[in-house]
Amino acid sequence: MPTAIVTGGAIRVGREMALHLARKGFDIALLYHSSGADSAETMQAIRAQGVQCRGYAGDLRKSRVAESFIGKILRDFNQVELLVNSAANFVQENVEQTRTETLVDTLHLNLIAPYLLMREYKRTVNKGLIVNILDERVARTVPTFAAYSVSKVALQHLTELAAVEWGESIRVNGIAPGLIIPPQGGAADYLEKAAKNVPTRTHGNLGDILHALDYLMENKFVNGETLFIDGGASLC
Ligand SMILES: NC(=O)c1ccc[n+]([C@@H]2O[C@H](COP(=O)([O-])OP(=O)(O)OC[C@H]3O[C@@H](n4cnc5c(N)ncnc54)[C@H](OP(=O)(O)O)[C@@H]3O)[C@@H](O)[C@H]2O)c1
Repeated sequence: MPTAIVTGGAIRVGREMALHLARKGFDIALLYHSSGADSAETMQAIRAQGVQCRGYAGDLRKSRVAESFIGKILRDFNQVELLVNSAANFVQENVEQTRTETLVDTLHLNLIAPYLLMREYKRTVNKGLIVNILDERVARTVPTFAAYSVSKVALQHLTELAAVEWGESIRVNGIAPGLIIPPQGGAADYLEKAAKNVPTRTHGNLGDILHALDYLMENKFVNGETLFIDGGASLC
């Protein structure tokens, strides 16, 4: 069976993508950090689809940890075909407010970790597809989550660089979600209120992200693309 690697796979968006891939017959290498109980539950749900699943715990802010994961996974799985970089933080600090710790953590987790995972994937697996989870903010200039935006814009550029450099062996694409699920700790009416600013006046749902993932897996001539799943919000 083919294997998919999903970072941030224990909860929320990452969890849904990992489960979806399991339903499609992928064995899953699930990367997580602090979601101990949630990762156990997610892995159980994945195995219930009849596929193998192994969890790999580690702090992706640490470069050594990030660059070691692919090697570890390849000792357990021999048909790796997909890497989904979904783990990220999302800290609300504008440029002036940005704490040094936020900046360093954000760049390490949201940019350097996917960079190192991609590089190791290229050096060892050298086939299949990489999908980087971006954000529709990459197309806009909204300073409220400054370090986050910088990290995602850079990750989009990295997606394109790698697509050009590696296209013959690995396709590299991005998904840029908009309003899909509320941020952790968001109010009950968060989606409803925020949807007023989306051209469709609706919010998306996790299924919309899964459709995008399916499209990127199925259409073998799509490379270096960013799919905006945002109701047009990135154009406002
Ligand atoms: N939610 C949305 O509507 C939305 C909109 C636009 C873009 N996105 C993007 O979609 C992706 C998933 O979003 P989400 O809302 O599901 O994210 P989330 O709820 O904030 O979850 C963050 C994920 O990152 C992992 N993570 C955090 N710190 C880590 C660390 N130091 N080392 C390793 N992993 C770490 C977490 O793993 P643990 O829990 O195991 O620590 C968790 O799985 C992100 O890239 C986000 O930017 C989401």
